[in-house]
Parts: sequence; C-alpha cells; structure tokens
Amino acid sequence: MSKIKSDFIFYWDALILLLITYAAIEVPLHLLPAYKPSGVLYILAECILSLCFIIDIYVRYHDPKTSHKSYLKRWSLIDILPAIPFELLLVFGDSGFEIPVILRAFRIVKIFRVASFKPLWEYSSNLNPGIVRLGFFFYYLALGMHWISCGWIKMRMQGMGGSLINEYLNAFYWCTTTVTTIGYGDITPDHSKNIEILYTMAVQFLGAGAYGYTIGNIATLLTNIDVARIRHRERVDRVANFMKSKKMPKKLQERVHHYYNYLWESRQGYDDATILSELPDSFKYEFASLLNREILRKVPMFKGADPNLIREIAVCLKPCIYTPGDAVCTYGEIGDKMYFINKGSVEVMSQDGRDVYATLKDGDFFGELALLLKQPRNATIKAVGYCDLYSLSKESFDLVISNYPDFEQNIQKMASERMNNKS
Ligand code: CMP
Repeated sequence: MSKIKSDFIFYWDALILLLITYAAIEVPLHLLPAYKPSGVLYILAECILSLCFIIDIYVRYHDPKTSHKSYLKRWSLIDILPAIPFELLLVFGDSGFEIPVILRAFRIVKIFRVASFKPLWEYSSNLNPGIVRLGFFFYYLALGMHWISCGWIKMRMQGMGGSLINEYLNAFYWCTTTVTTIGYGDITPDHSKNIEILYTMAVQFLGAGAYGYTIGNIATLLTNIDVARIRHRERVDRVANFMKSKKMPKKLQERVHHYYNYLWESRQGYDDATILSELPDSFKYEFASLLNREILRKVPMFKGADPNLIREIAVCLKPCIYTPGDAVCTYGEIGDKMYFINKGSVEVMSQDGRDVYATLKDGDFFGELALLLKQPRNATIKAVGYCDLYSLSKESFDLVISNYPDFEQNIQKMASERMNNKS
C-alpha cells in the first residue's frame, strides 16, 4: 500500500474511532429522562455520523488488505447497521416523534470494529502486546460502565427529578463502587424490586470478572515482560541500523519494517523451522503435522492423500512471509522451490507484468512447473497483500514425487491445465 494510502487509512480509522466512541457515549444517554437533544445542530451531527459510516463501508470494501468476499462475510452487517440514517425519521416524522432506543442501539454495533483497526495495532507495535490488550480492555470497560450507569438511571430514578449531571454522577458512582468490587453500600438496589436486585447482581458478576481479568493480565505482564518481544526488537534494530549505515533507500527500509511488524504479528517471534530442526526425529513428524495442520487442511490436493505423504511433506514445509508487491518468483529464473499459500493472495503475471493470468488464494500452490518440467519459471508471481506461504524445496519435491506417484499425477494434471490456460 502506498504511503499516502496507509496515512489516509490511519487518519480515517482515527476519525471513525472518534465517531464510534461518540455514538457509544451518546446513544445510551437517551435512556435518561432528562436528556432530550433536539434542533438542527443535533440532526446535522447525526446525519454527518451516518454519512461517515456509509463512506466507511466504501473505504473498508476497497481496502486492498482484505478481499471483498471476506469483508462481506465478516464485517458487512457490523458496518451496515450503524450506517442506517434513522435521523431522517426525525426530519420526516411528526414533530415530537422519538426514535426508539433499540433502533439507536444499532449505532453501537460498530464498537466490535475497534479492535480490528489495523493502524492502531501497527502504531502501537512498539508497545508490549499485554499493554495494548489492557488499553482496549479499559476502553471497553469505561464504555460498559457508562451504559450500565444509564441503564441504572432508567430503571431507578425515572421521574425522580434532579439535574442531569447529578443523576448521572450518582449512577456512575454506584457503578464504579460495584464494578471495582468496593461496594460502599450507600447506594443500594430497592430490595422490594426484583429487577434492581438482579441488575445489581449482574453488575457485581461483571465487576468480579473485570477485576480478575485486570489482575491476571497485569501479573502476566510483569512475569514475562516479553522476552520474545525483546529478542524480536533487537533483531529489528540490528537490521534497521545496518540499512541506515549502508544508506539503503527509504522505501526499502519501510518495507523491511513492515515485514518485521507482520512477522511479529503472525509469529510472535517464534521460528517454526528452527524449533523443528532442534527436535529429535521421534517428535519431528508429529510436531510438524500439528504445526502445519492449517495449511495441510487448506490444500485440496492433500485431502484424503496418503497419511505418510502428509507426514513427509509436513516436515519439509518451511514458512515464509512476503510483503505487498514482493515478487515471489520471477519469469525466467531457475526455480528451486514450490509454494503453498496459507494466507493471502498472489497474482500470476506475464514477464512485463501487463497480463494477469490468475489470482491464487489460500490453499493454492504455485512454482511447481519449474520443478516438474526442469525449466525456468514461466511466469512472475507477485504478492497482492501480506502473504503467508510455505515453501517446499526441489530436493524434497523430487523425493516426494518419486515415492508417491499419485501425488505426481495430481500435480501433473494441474500443471498441464495451467500450461493450457496460459497459452
Ligand atoms: P513456475 O513456472 O515454476 O513459476 C511460475 C508459476 O506460476 C508456475 O510455475 C505455475 O505454478 C504458476 N502459473 C503459471 N501459469 C499459471 C496459470 N495460468 N494459472 C495459475 N498458475 C499459473
């Protein structure tokens, strides 16, 4: 993704995060009897909110890092519901018309999006992941306490009068003492009302859970002040200093940084291949089959294949990562590996990059022609977004096909289809 594009996504995400937080604070306020916003400014603010959420659907749908299909499957509902412009009901409805709180609550659904905002993670990648997790947790907890306080006012103080601020402060005070498990007991539920007792009990349970979660997280944070992360940082710093001293182009340095960020996010500093190479043979096969089970499940050719073949391939697969735009194979070069796609997609293109013959995705493989036909690469392969691949070396490939003729036949079939498809 170009610099401008990623900068844009960062600022756009920040704006959407602000709007989501605004909606998450404003919507529950409608439960308060004394909260009656109206007027052109209020309607205008609501319209702007809907408009931004509608534009957000467009931005997410066209985000090069996610495919249209996976966006529609995972996020569409969460993005569409909050974007419905209910405030138009206020404009076209009778005067005095009120939008039911349940409809307004759709606005809050987008809160599930917050943790997925990539730039938030990328920009906090220098922090300990435990701290980032706690940050998100406190964000959700603060909003949750606000909702609980509004619910408490709705249930308890309806018609009791008092200023809006005083009502709210009292409710938030009750909520804080209950959630933090302090429970002074100066504000208590009306014991003649079951609903109030049940509500209080539910909040007490939530409080106990939140308390446990916080303590647990802080304890883990302190015990393993992330050894793996420190090792990873040292590695990144070494490479960064090297690139600086050799005056490498800024663009390349940026790509290397992104590569390491992604490496950390996807592997958390562990290197499967090194761990595997240190294990005795007795564990190796089982370990490798477990480690690589995701890819072995994804590749259709491995479904129902000889279990011995799967075991042998599993130990030979080596994970590798490519960043957006990287050339995995280049037309005309001598191929010494073939690849299986675990996550991401690649484009198969002509030597000059003008024709795209195919886009390959999770579970597909490529680079087999050079190994099979002992010829140079017949196409260039470029990573579309971040790609998690597994490579199989030529030696392992030759060994596997000599022992498993069925596997060879399957690959041959696919290879001739591809050759025909290209001509
Ligand atoms: P190889 O020639 O080793 O390197 C380039 C790879 O691109 C090639 O192996 C195939 O795996 C892949 N490839 C070539 N043409 C097509 C096609 N038409 N559809 C899908 N993949 C292809």
